[in-house]
Amino acid sequence: MKFLVLVSILISLGALVIGQSHNYFWGTRRGYDVLLNRTSAFRSSSMLRVKSMDLQYPLKGQRGGNITAIHIEDQYTNGKGGYAKLLAGGIGYNFTKIHLKSQRGGGFNFIVEIYGR
Ligand SMILES: *[C@@H]1O[C@H](CO)[C@@H](O)[C@H](O)[C@H]1NC(C)=O
Ligand SMILES: *[C@@H]1O[C@H](CO)[C@@H](O)[C@H](O)[C@H]1NC(C)=O
Ligand SMILES: *[C@@H]1O[C@H](CO)[C@@H](O)[C@H](O)[C@H]1NC(C)=O
Repeated sequence: MKFLVLVSILISLGALVIGQSHNYFWGTRRGYDVLLNRTSAFRSSSMLRVKSMDLQYPLKGQRGGNITAIHIEDQYTNGKGGYAKLLAGGIGYNFTKIHLKSQRGGGFNFIVEIYGR
């Protein structure tokens, strides 16, 4: 058991060094959770500028499910992708607002999945 933990730590460290995606995994998915929303969020790069976007769940006027996990997967694997930050709600809430931001002069391409019930 200890050995397995060590191996998985080494593998994840390796992954950090090799692939430099900015992935975010907040919360924990339970077995019976469903995918509440899946969105791809893309902004192209433009010179010297920082691009950003706010994602909101649920859409205005709709009821949200109770959120247990948020997975944000960076489609850039070269470390040039953007960053994500939670602005409101999130795990344990029925709404969330997520701020996505590029590096200066860069773009971003994230797949955002919200799980819950
Ligand atoms: C998921 O969220 C995105 C971004 O807020 C929205 O455009 C889309 O309509 C949502 N999809 C569903 C099925 O609610
Ligand atoms: C969230 O839950 C509260 C309490 O159950 C409810 O009043 C509110 O309308 C819900 N909000 C959304 C966005 O579903
Ligand atoms: C979310 O959790 C609240 C409190 O536990 C519950 O009353 C509500 O029915 C839940 N909403 C959904 C969509 O399961």
